[in-house]
Amino acid sequence: MIIAIDGPAASGKGTLGKRLAHHYHFRHLDTGVIYRAVAQAMLDAGAELTDEAQAVAAALELDPEKFGNPVLKTQAVGEAASVVSAFPRVREALLTFQRQFAAEPPGAVLDGRDIGTVICPDADVKIFVVADPVVRARRRALEMRTRGEAADEAMVLADILKRDERDKNRATAPLKAAADAHVLDNSHLDIEAGVKAAIAIVEAAKIRRRGA
Ligand code: DC
Repeated sequence: MIIAIDGPAASGKGTLGKRLAHHYHFRHLDTGVIYRAVAQAMLDAGAELTDEAQAVAAALELDPEKFGNPVLKTQAVGEAASVVSAFPRVREALLTFQRQFAAEPPGAVLDGRDIGTVICPDADVKIFVVADPVVRARRRALEMRTRGEAADEAMVLADILKRDERDKNRATAPLKAAADAHVLDNSHLDIEAGVKAAIAIVEAAKIRRRGA
C-alpha cells in the first residue's frame, strides 16, 4: 500500500506521515528532505541557487546518508529548497529514487508536494493537508525555538506565504491536491487528533477497496 500525503510547508504533513508509517509499520519518506539536501549541497559548494546545471548535478549525486543532517531542517535551507525544486530537471533526477522507495514492501508513506499528482498518481490513499497560514507560522516558530533557532512569527509567516506562492505557481509539479485526494484541515487539530483523522481516512479507503 502507498499513502501519499501532500500539503504546504508547516502544514503538519511531515508529522502525520511519520505517525501513519509507524501505525501501519510502513516505511516513511519525507520528500522535502531530498530537495533540502540538494539545496544544502549547492550552498556547501558555494553555487548560485539559480544554477540549474549544478542543481541537477547535486540531485544526481544525492547521498541519502546525509538526510539526517539537522541543518536541513532550518528555515534558510527550506527556502533554498523551494528555489531549486522549481527546476524540472532537478525534479526529474529525483523521480526514480522516490518511486523506488514507494514500491518496496511492506508499504510506504511519502509526504511532499507532488506525491499524489506526479510521483505516485496511483497511490492507494491520498491526503492533502491544509492549515491556516497563521497557525502554520505559529507551529513552525515553536518548532524552531525548540531547536534553539531564533524565530520571529511575522517573518516565519512571510516566509511561509512566499514559499506557498512559489510552490503553487511553479510550472512543473506545482503544489496542488490530486482530484482524488482527501483534504484534511489541520488548523484546529492537535497532533493526536490529526493522526486519528488521517487513520480514519486510510481505514475508509481500505474498506472501499475491499468493496470494489
Ligand atoms: O516540505 P518541506 O518544507 O521540507 O519542503 C521544502 C521545499 O522543497 C518546499 O518548499 C518545496 C520543495 N518540495 C517539493 O518541491 N516537492 C516535494 N515533494 C517536497 C518538497
